[in-house]
Amino acid sequence: MSLKLKGKICIITGATSGMGKAIAERFHAEGAKLVLSGRNEKRGDALSNTFSDSVFVAGDVKDVAYNTKLVDVALETFGSLDIVSMNAGALGLGSVTDLPIESWQSTLDTNLSSLFYLSKAALPYLAKTKGNMIINASIAAYKSFPNHPAYCASKAGALALMKQMAVEYAPQVRVNAICPGPVDTPLIWDSAKAFENPASAVENAAKATLMKRLGQPEDIANLVLFLASEEASWITGTAMNIDGGILNT
Ligand SMILES: NC(=O)c1ccc[n+]([C@@H]2O[C@H](COP(=O)([O-])OP(=O)(O)OC[C@H]3O[C@@H](n4cnc5c(N)ncnc54)[C@H](OP(=O)(O)O)[C@@H]3O)[C@@H](O)[C@H]2O)c1
Repeated sequence: MSLKLKGKICIITGATSGMGKAIAERFHAEGAKLVLSGRNEKRGDALSNTFSDSVFVAGDVKDVAYNTKLVDVALETFGSLDIVSMNAGALGLGSVTDLPIESWQSTLDTNLSSLFYLSKAALPYLAKTKGNMIINASIAAYKSFPNHPAYCASKAGALALMKQMAVEYAPQVRVNAICPGPVDTPLIWDSAKAFENPASAVENAAKATLMKRLGQPEDIANLVLFLASEEASWITGTAMNIDGGILNT
């Protein structure tokens, strides 16, 4: 059986939980060498220790220097860089009138500016390997959610940045995004706190999909693997919905 990412050197942010973790597991199973990112050292080290050819680098994606370090570690440890999967995300819950300025800024920094910082460091090396980047955006880029102003704005911005980079760095580098609907990770339970009854908000979100269930992190990893692989070599500048059909309801 041929491995889809054999020997490919990949940075994965948000690898300590949820979708990023599932992507790391899938990429590893397909032969990739991994630079894993997240803040939680215990979870990051535990994950990295289960893999061969993997290193965990703890840090905050809001920090410019940390993003540069992720690229430096990929080059120093494995020699080049092929794929960047960006999943780190924060919610910043509160209506526009309630949300503290610091929370707005922190959410924009985590969900949008960090993409710019990491792309800025990674693109010159991705251009050399004809690599690609996959940004984890959200259906919140298109659809409004109560008490999620910073989240919705940052995810819409992420799609605009993705398209801009796809144009500017073609044909050397492919840049795509995914827009997940409700996926069963810790973040959706935090997101549900914006509703009066969080448990029923999650249940309702699952029921509202055409597929009548929450997405699982592994569903998302399947799509990210496809976009990262050679099978997607003619796909760039695209945002793919993976939402159980919820945007059609
Ligand atoms: N779950 C959903 O329903 C859903 C739907 C659409 C889109 N998304 C998007 O999918 C992505 C992954 O989210 P998830 O659902 O898998 O959530 P999750 O399980 O809570 O994972 C979030 C990840 O982001 C990392 N992270 C957050 N802030 C960070 C920071 N400042 N610096 C470094 N790492 C940071 C966390 O690492 P540490 O905990 O180690 O700091 C964690 O690994 C996010 O971008 C999210 O917006 C989620």
